[in-house]
Amino acid sequence: MAYGLSEGTLAVSPMLQFSQVSFSYQQRSILKDFSLQIDKGEFVSVIGPSGVGKSTLFHLANGLLQPDAGQIMLGDNGESNLLGKVGYMPQKDLLLPWRTVLENAALPLEIKGMKQEAAYRQVREQLPIFGLEGWADAYPEQLSGGMRQRVSLLRATLTGSQLLLLDEPFSALDGITKMEMQEWLLSLWRQLGITVLLITHDIEEAILLADRVLVLKAAPVQEAVEVPVSLGRPREGRLRYDPAFLAIREQIWDILTDAINAAGERGRRA
Ligand SMILES: Nc1ncnc2c1ncn2[C@@H]1O[C@H](COP(=O)(O)OP(=O)(O)OP(=O)(O)O)[C@@H](O)[C@H]1O
Ligand SMILES: [Mg+2]
Repeated sequence: MAYGLSEGTLAVSPMLQFSQVSFSYQQRSILKDFSLQIDKGEFVSVIGPSGVGKSTLFHLANGLLQPDAGQIMLGDNGESNLLGKVGYMPQKDLLLPWRTVLENAALPLEIKGMKQEAAYRQVREQLPIFGLEGWADAYPEQLSGGMRQRVSLLRATLTGSQLLLLDEPFSALDGITKMEMQEWLLSLWRQLGITVLLITHDIEEAILLADRVLVLKAAPVQEAVEVPVSLGRPREGRLRYDPAFLAIREQIWDILTDAINAAGERGRRA
C-alpha cells in the first residue's frame, strides 16, 4: 500500500520503527515489548484515553526519551540517533516568552544555519496561512491559546523534517478554524509527501485525516489496535455523514469504550 503523493507509484519503506520497545517512568510501565511501523508518506492518527502514554510515545520517537529496552529507528537506514531529526509539535506549546511570533517560528530555520533575514522572510510568507498575519511582532503572552498553537504548528513544519509528530495540534481551536487547519495540513502532507503522526482526542478528526488510526487502550501498551481508514481522498467535511465513515467511527468508539470500562474494572478491583 502506498500513501499520499505516492499513491500507487512508490514501494513502501519504513519511516519510523519501534521494535520491542519497553519504557517506564519510575514505577509506571508505559510501553512493554511494543512494536510499530509507520511507512513513508503515511498519515496516521493516534487516539486513546488520557494518561495511556500517547505523548510519551512521541517523546521516544523524537529522542527526548530513551527506551529501557528495544530499538527505535528512523528511515531506511535505521538511524537511531533521533534528536533534532523529527518535526515535533508538543502538546503544551513551548514558545519562548521573550521571543516574538516571528522569532519563535524562525527558530528551526536559524538552528539549521539559515541567515536571519531569509528565515524571517520565509516565516512572514507563512503567517497568513496560519491566520497570524499582523502578529509577527507579538509576544506569546499576547496571543490566545489557539494562536499559540498555530505558531507552534508553524514552527514544527519549518523544521523541514520528513516526519512530523503533532500532539493534539488543533485541540484549542474553534470548529471553523480547526477545519481550515486540518485542510491546510492535508494539503501540506500531499504536496511535500511527508509522513505525519497526529495525536488527537477527536475521533472524527482521527478518521478524516488518516490512512489508519492507532488506538492505545491501556498502559502498559503492548500493541496498538489498528483501524484502517479505507476512504478515498480528497476528503470533505461531509464525509463524516457517510455510512462507511460512521462504521469506522463506531468501531473506534467500541474499542475506546471497552478500554475505559476495563480501566474502571481494574480500578474497582485495586
Ligand atoms: N515525566 C514524567 N514522570 C513521571 N510520570 C510521567 C511523566 N510524564 C508522564 N507521566 C505519566 O505517564 C503516563 C502517560 O503520560 P502521557 O503524557 O504520555 O499520557 P497521554 O496519553 O499523552 O495523556 P493525555 O491524553 O492526557 O495527554 C501518565 O500516567 C503520566 O502521569
Ligand atoms: Mg498527551
